[in-house]
Amino acid sequence: MAAFNEHLAERIDRYIESLFVPADPALTANIEKAGAAGLPPINVTANQGKFLYILARIAGARRILEIGTLGGYSTTWLARALPPEGRLISLELDEVHARTARENLASAGVEAVTEIRVGAAADTLTAMIQAGEAPFDFVFIDADKCGYLKYLGLVMQLSKTGTVIVADNVIRNGAVLDEDPKDADDRGARDYNAAVAANPRLESIALPMYKNKLDGIAISRVVA
Ligand code: SAH
Ligand code: DHB
Ligand code: MG
Repeated sequence: MAAFNEHLAERIDRYIESLFVPADPALTANIEKAGAAGLPPINVTANQGKFLYILARIAGARRILEIGTLGGYSTTWLARALPPEGRLISLELDEVHARTARENLASAGVEAVTEIRVGAAADTLTAMIQAGEAPFDFVFIDADKCGYLKYLGLVMQLSKTGTVIVADNVIRNGAVLDEDPKDADDRGARDYNAAVAANPRLESIALPMYKNKLDGIAISRVVA
């Protein structure tokens, strides 16, 4: 893999954060509580959280769906983008993650607009479709990467024209350049990128982003 200047990327990331993402006690407490509960530090960065917030605001999102809650860090950013009568449903497999996230969301003052549903995301999404859940305006996919393609198919059934679908970790330090990735998560991300690119119901782009290494997100808009 070609060299990448991590030192410069880190300095730029810190520069952007110092300009655009002021220190926030609720978000700092979220990370501390997640660490104390033994959750892995795989939440989005502060800059990515602000980016998600801005995207959801631009989309005018009133109903947000998240797949992969962890300790509720990205959940907090997205919940803050909602109007008071808005709603965010976040799906999480792990009971401990969900419990930690609920405490964090309450501390951040966003518990009234957020709900965490525990279970395998594919099962929860299927149940939501069968229950006739109203479509979402904004979706953030950030759970197991090998499930992304399946989640996309289900999420499309919970979408309408204009729904924005964002997926994290779709570059994987360039592992997605491999035509035949051996790692199931690398393959999942590569297959997801190919699927959104080829889907006539979506207009999409992927954006490299720095997070410890070079990763990135895919952004799609449902056309019809
Ligand atoms: N969005 C979070 C990070 C999520 S990390 C943030 O940025 O703050 C990925 C999460 O997906 C983990 O909490 C993991 O337990 C959860 N997860 C993994 N497999 C899952 C599945 N099949 N269904 C639902 N959640 C899953
Ligand atoms: C990792 C990072 C992520 O953003 C994620 O959603 C899952 C795992 C990681 O660095 O391992
Ligand atoms: Mg992620």
